[in-house]
Amino acid sequence: MAHLLITGGAGFIGSHCCVALLEAGHGLVVLDNFDNSSPEALRRVAELGGLQGEARGPWRDGHGAVRLQLVEGDVRCADDLDAAFTTSPEGIGAVVHCAGLKAVGESVAEPLRYWDTNLGGSLRLLEAMRRHGCRTIVFSSSATLYGYPDTVPIPETAPIQPINPYGHSKAAVEQVLADVAASEAGWRIARLRYFNPVGSHPSGRIGEDPEGIPNNLFPYLSQVAVGRRQALHIFGSDWPTPDGTGVRDYIHVMDLADGHRAALDTLLREEPQLLTVNLGSGQGHSVLDVVHAFEAACGHRLPYELVDRRPGDAATTVADPGLASARLDWRTRRSLADICRDGWAWQSANPRGYGP
Ligand code: NAD
Ligand code: UD1
Repeated sequence: MAHLLITGGAGFIGSHCCVALLEAGHGLVVLDNFDNSSPEALRRVAELGGLQGEARGPWRDGHGAVRLQLVEGDVRCADDLDAAFTTSPEGIGAVVHCAGLKAVGESVAEPLRYWDTNLGGSLRLLEAMRRHGCRTIVFSSSATLYGYPDTVPIPETAPIQPINPYGHSKAAVEQVLADVAASEAGWRIARLRYFNPVGSHPSGRIGEDPEGIPNNLFPYLSQVAVGRRQALHIFGSDWPTPDGTGVRDYIHVMDLADGHRAALDTLLREEPQLLTVNLGSGQGHSVLDVVHAFEAACGHRLPYELVDRRPGDAATTVADPGLASARLDWRTRRSLADICRDGWAWQSANPRGYGP
């Protein structure tokens, strides 16, 4: 058991990581400014972990031990970071760094905001880690680094060639982490390159809750299924893929969360190192595959319209998951049907997400 700081722990991926890491026996401090999330997500994380507490914590287990704490604050602010590193008497043994901005289109319109949060926030966090003697970090990187991939499935050795400011900011943080690892012995760093995280905890109590019109396929389709949107627009039906629609590697968010647990276990067990691994299933599914799987889960037809390709999209991105299997002893266990069943459990029980 370790005491962990989870930045962005109220977000989609962070909240699911919290559930998996609590289950693995860790004590957690979450630092989040709720820029793109709700405190309700953390309250539900505590509930799923069988913990008791006030609306904003701290949350305790049945023996009275504090297992989950919230520090409401900004990862760019040294004082907020100091509060997060000192709130637990045991200190912080390792960090899972999920806080960041992630909307590709927004990053094109507001690059400075993206660089400030994604790179600036990571720099401030690494400085705070040095101040507090913590040298272990798992970073939320992205398959967006591979841009238009030259080979599929994509190995970690593929060229880093991001095509938008969001991707550039992730590539920059990966570089900073490599430089930090090279600068001083003792750093334990995992750069986890997520493919397409989707679905929700099987309880349907936590899930993805995007603001406004979703940019990504899975939340958009979920909102069509629950009647919040009329029809899905499928971006392109003339891609060089089996059915003409785009192919992606969709990974159940609980498999992804388990990948963080596995990465932390590996980092804490082995000698200090810089680990870089894809988190994906190695399986590609087309947009139409996802539509049909979701129809089976929700029990009704989902209207869609075939429209032009979306600028910036690739035909196919699928992970080579071999390294994660070899180094982390981790692989995905949940299918596309599981993803849709659990995603529907969340969306149908929470048609407006965490909102009223
Ligand atoms: P999310 O927006 O749901 O979660 C991010 C969390 O960070 C939110 O709770 C938000 O409030 C918080 N946050 C943002 N700025 C902050 C700041 N300055 N200080 C403190 N907290 C801040 O996004 P997510 O889908 O959970 O993504 C988590 C991480 O994974 C991000 O770094 C994202 O770039 C990366 N990632 C996500 C995907 C994906 O498809 N969801 C894919 C690849 C990589
Ligand atoms: C997007 C991001 C990528 C990020 C990834 C994380 C863009 C351009 N890329 O990737 O940087 O790392 O999310 O999960 O935003 N689709 C539709 N209709 C829709 C939405 C999507 O047909 O309304 C199609 C897309 O064309 C694509 C597939 O569905 O073929 C998946 O799209 P999406 O969920 O947006 O993910 P990515 O494009 O893979």
